Amino acid sequence: MNCDIKDKNLKSAGKKRIEWALSRMPVLEQVRQKFKKEKPLKGLTVGACLHITTETAALALTLKEAGARALFCASNPLSTQDDTAASLALDYGIEVFAINNEDNNTYYKHIDAVLQAKPQITLDDGADLVSTIHKRFFKSASGKKPDLPWASTEETTTGVIRLKSLQKEGRLLYPVIAVNDAYTKHLFDNRYGTGQSTLDGVIRATNRLISGSNLVVCGYGWCGKGVARRAQGLGANVIVCEVDALKALEAVMDGFRVMPMKEAARIGDIFITVTGDINVVSKSHFPVMKNRALIANSGHFDVEIDIRNLKKTAVKVREVKPLVKEYTLKNKKIIYVLGEGRLVNLACAEGHPAEVMDLSFANQALSCEYIVKSKGKLQNKVYKVPDSIDFKVASLKLKSMGIKIDTLTTEQKAYLSAWQEGT
Ligand code: NAI
Repeated sequence: MNCDIKDKNLKSAGKKRIEWALSRMPVLEQVRQKFKKEKPLKGLTVGACLHITTETAALALTLKEAGARALFCASNPLSTQDDTAASLALDYGIEVFAINNEDNNTYYKHIDAVLQAKPQITLDDGADLVSTIHKRFFKSASGKKPDLPWASTEETTTGVIRLKSLQKEGRLLYPVIAVNDAYTKHLFDNRYGTGQSTLDGVIRATNRLISGSNLVVCGYGWCGKGVARRAQGLGANVIVCEVDALKALEAVMDGFRVMPMKEAARIGDIFITVTGDINVVSKSHFPVMKNRALIANSGHFDVEIDIRNLKKTAVKVREVKPLVKEYTLKNKKIIYVLGEGRLVNLACAEGHPAEVMDLSFANQALSCEYIVKSKGKLQNKVYKVPDSIDFKVASLKLKSMGIKIDTLTTEQKAYLSAWQEGT
């Protein structure tokens, strides 16, 4: 078996975990059944650089059922589940190159192992695979174009930003479908996934009662809306802090109290940042906070809480529970920070549920089919996932839930597309 995994003996534990994920991913299951019949990727090689987790395993099996040779490496060495990797390779015949905690050399050796198979389609999460291809091309003295993939998909914002910057410089060598930008991805991943798993992280780390607490959500974007709604459902008095007037107004009309952080800092019991911004909870806020206030971040980088400043000004710092740091300030007040200010849903819980990744990966699989159908027609640009795929994924999800919806009649279609109508 062409693979590099940690331990073959982990495969039976991995198989059980994969089966658990498969049972909770009904949308991808429907795509897999369709692909099994139609074999849209027959004879093709797909090279993927994604987190090697049980949900990704479900995607790998879908690509295999579609007729592809599938090779997988990790997009982050720390997220690899070694048991999942073992089962994928040994039970399901997927060529996996991923070991948890692998060093940088091994990480790139594994990317290389995938590229050596000369995939026609690449799948990326953070653009390491695609940028490796680009770096090699730009470095090669011959300037000869290597065998490039037909197209790629990209799972995450960071990857899309990198690829768009290549496009802006006119140096993107092949087309990319930004799965990240699908509506069904944002809706499930950012709103429902982050909403639930962020509170899951807070609760797992602290076992604290949310009901009755003043919970401050900083940022009322996709993620913030999810967090605010879930916190309200648990009985919290939710306060929203925003810098965007439209979002702030939306929060008010959704029934939340809105105020500047300067005011919220004094009354919050729990603070959750989800802005993508820097120092949202900062040095002027810590001293005025209530004693034993708790702060967590669910934005991408660990910069939303000014922990550096908190450390500098605290007279005592200790870990009171795993992933719960207690800072004692000069004024004797205590402040808790969860998971070192890193994404609390990953640091203190298990990240997104399989039901969330189900929609992201259905978008991935259908985008692969789209790449084959559009061969030769796409330019070297970053494309949004076609609306038809987004609607398809939403329809399949509704179907899996047993929910039917109405369709437009011919008369309604004509009415809605005619400018002459109106009276
Ligand atoms: P978004 O752009 O929809 O919302 C961010 C909101 O924060 C905006 O409304 C903006 O006006 C507001 N904001 C910016 N600076 C602020 C400040 N100083 N004070 C108050 N509000 C401020 O972005 P989205 O999709 O909600 O993502 C937010 C962050 O969460 C990003 O860093 C994103 O990468 C991350 N994310 C985390 C996930 C997780 O699993 N924890 C999943 C998906 C995204």
